[in-house]
Amino acid sequence: MTRLLALESSCDETSAAVVSGTADAPRLESLVILSQDVHRIFGGVVPEIASREHLTAVVPVTRQALADAGAGFDAIDAIAVTHAPGLVGALLVGVSYAKALAHALGKPVLGVHHMEGHLFATALEHPDAVPPFTALLVSGGHTLLLDVEAWGRYRLLGETRDDAAGEAFDKTAKLMGLPYPGGRHIEALARAGDPKRFRFARPMLNAGQRPGDDDYYDVSFSGLKTAVLHAVRASDDLERDRPHLARAFQDALIDTLVAKTMRAARAHGRTRIVLGGGVACNRTLAEAMTAAAGAVDGRVFAPSPRLATDNAAMIGAAGLFRFEAGQRDTAALNAHSALPIPGLVAAPAAAR
Ligand code: KG4
Ligand code: ZN
Repeated sequence: MTRLLALESSCDETSAAVVSGTADAPRLESLVILSQDVHRIFGGVVPEIASREHLTAVVPVTRQALADAGAGFDAIDAIAVTHAPGLVGALLVGVSYAKALAHALGKPVLGVHHMEGHLFATALEHPDAVPPFTALLVSGGHTLLLDVEAWGRYRLLGETRDDAAGEAFDKTAKLMGLPYPGGRHIEALARAGDPKRFRFARPMLNAGQRPGDDDYYDVSFSGLKTAVLHAVRASDDLERDRPHLARAFQDALIDTLVAKTMRAARAHGRTRIVLGGGVACNRTLAEAMTAAAGAVDGRVFAPSPRLATDNAAMIGAAGLFRFEAGQRDTAALNAHSALPIPGLVAAPAAAR
């Protein structure tokens, strides 16, 4: 059995976890997540502030995770740390601390890709959320549609051409006068919304799209955001219209995500769909996906909110897989703002 200490500091959560077991049966021993509330004042993450907050929090957060697991540094076999993608200054705090710890303890360090972490999050809670599956990763920074043939073998099918799904929620919330981050506010408001009051076109979704077309799996949300902006400007009573606008926006975004995910599952013969990223907290999305998958005997796995948003447990779970695969990084391990997910395999033209 392997036991890893995992660290995550790619954006505005300082998180540490202790994860043990194997990649196929990971066990979460502890998880501490410190969310940096300060960014709310600015309506978005301020990179330098994020780095400074990580610097203050990383040591106590790590100590708390070890204490919660009842483990000392000597009980840890290696340290897994998010090294990409994300805010470089934020990543550097986790990477530097992980390297220093590894050096002091004489234990290995390994860099984990943040998006690979999101793929593993659900497996910590659902033993059946294992490959092969179709993955939809939707967060504030990313929107990825992947076919996961096996752990470490990923086909990138679709991405966003502009805003990430969470970013679309946050920007739309802002122009409707809602607080940051706005995703959960839109979802809550939409519950009281009348789906017939407004209707927005389903972004990048039409029946004429065929496998092999660039837009078959890709998504784009900036047009939808602009459509909401025009509707907000045209409204003579925003207070009255807000829930209906939230509903129409969310319906359009969810319809597109569900349709494209189902295309990917169908094309690759997958019966399991795994959701990840902060937008996977959206119950309406999970329910719509479950209904669509259920119609073809498929199952949908969504992580609980704690594991959907950024956390070190998922880095530990992915770290177990990478550790078992023999990955050990050197003192030269660095942080990268952008880096392709490891283990990408080319998508055959026919399947795209
Ligand atoms: O994964 P995450 O914690 O951080 C990033 O890596 O970006 O995701 C944060 C994003 C934000 O855009 C937030 O608005 C969105 O997740 N989010 C939601 C919901 N809860 C969080 N979006 C829609 N509905 C929700 N219930
Ligand atoms: Zn994330």
